[in-house]
Amino acid sequence: MAELKQKIDQIKREFTTRLAETASTKELEDIRLAFLGKKGSITTLLSELKDLSIEDKKVVGPLLHSFKQEAEERIQQHKEKILVRQSEQATQRLQDFDVTAYVPNAKPGHLHPYTQFIEEIQNIFLSMGYEIWDGPEFETDFYNFGALNIPQDHPARDMYDTFWTNKPEYLLRTHTSPVQIRAMQNKKPPLAGIAPGRTYRHEAVDASHDFMFMQCEGLLIDKNVTAAHFFATAQTFLKKLFQKDSLDIRIRPGFFPFVEPGFEIDMRCVFCKTGCSVCKHSTWIEIFPGGLVHPNVLKAGGIDPTQYSGFAFGFGLTRLVMLKHGIDDIRLLHSGKIKFLEQF
Ligand code: PHE
Repeated sequence: MAELKQKIDQIKREFTTRLAETASTKELEDIRLAFLGKKGSITTLLSELKDLSIEDKKVVGPLLHSFKQEAEERIQQHKEKILVRQSEQATQRLQDFDVTAYVPNAKPGHLHPYTQFIEEIQNIFLSMGYEIWDGPEFETDFYNFGALNIPQDHPARDMYDTFWTNKPEYLLRTHTSPVQIRAMQNKKPPLAGIAPGRTYRHEAVDASHDFMFMQCEGLLIDKNVTAAHFFATAQTFLKKLFQKDSLDIRIRPGFFPFVEPGFEIDMRCVFCKTGCSVCKHSTWIEIFPGGLVHPNVLKAGGIDPTQYSGFAFGFGLTRLVMLKHGIDDIRLLHSGKIKFLEQF
């Protein structure tokens, strides 16, 4: 009997010591198993109770049972303490995390080719006195079509495979031209700005089409603006972009309901002299559509067409990035693949 009590005391001491040394829930589980598991020392003693005399049982039984209960409670309390400490340590680690720390051999990241290109374009237009504008990609029928002289049922809507949305009158903008209207409504002429951004069309995706691509809109409004201003601006921009002193361009008529007259500016192919797949064997690349802002569009923007005139353009930013870098598959540009992006 005395021996048994001694044994219980010894197990208690052992339990207390091991518990005090434990800092992880894994170790704690080992302790639980060692004392309270099927073959644990407390469980074993409990199973041996039945072999004791009634008197001994009366003394040792309650002793063991209360120890068992105490052990369970202390393990539970200890577990909570460990968890609290772990979460405090995690918070501390986060606070101590220095995002600017130098990591040896870390590969530095860089701007996406789109971002680099947009910065380049913006710098060119900023140097010509333009502002940078932005507009929503989730647009209304009015800004994307109506105000741009493309009324309901006008066949020109067929040029744009539009993503309509569940919200009546709302769509994903098919071009950056709605920014023209927003700029005219928000500013007083003279005004000049560009608006690079995402546009969406319901396209079957292949090497040269994606349902999302980028355009850059441009708008200038002042008194006595003519097509000559538009041509000169286009030429200046393209020369700076392709870093050429002289640039071979040609001007063709082009139809867009929101300009009158409308033009397509083509540039000599930068890849070949005699024709290649990029220029579709014509040696010319269609690059810069635009024209003089249609009087109906000026009116929709709240500007008096008898006082002011202006030009607008909207070039394919995605197309220009691909041309500049010789990227032959639009899907690569939109893939986010590190191996591809590392090249720029
Ligand atoms: N928004 C036209 C398009 O997406 C391009 C354009 C813009 C043409 C401005 C003329 C003037 O096709």
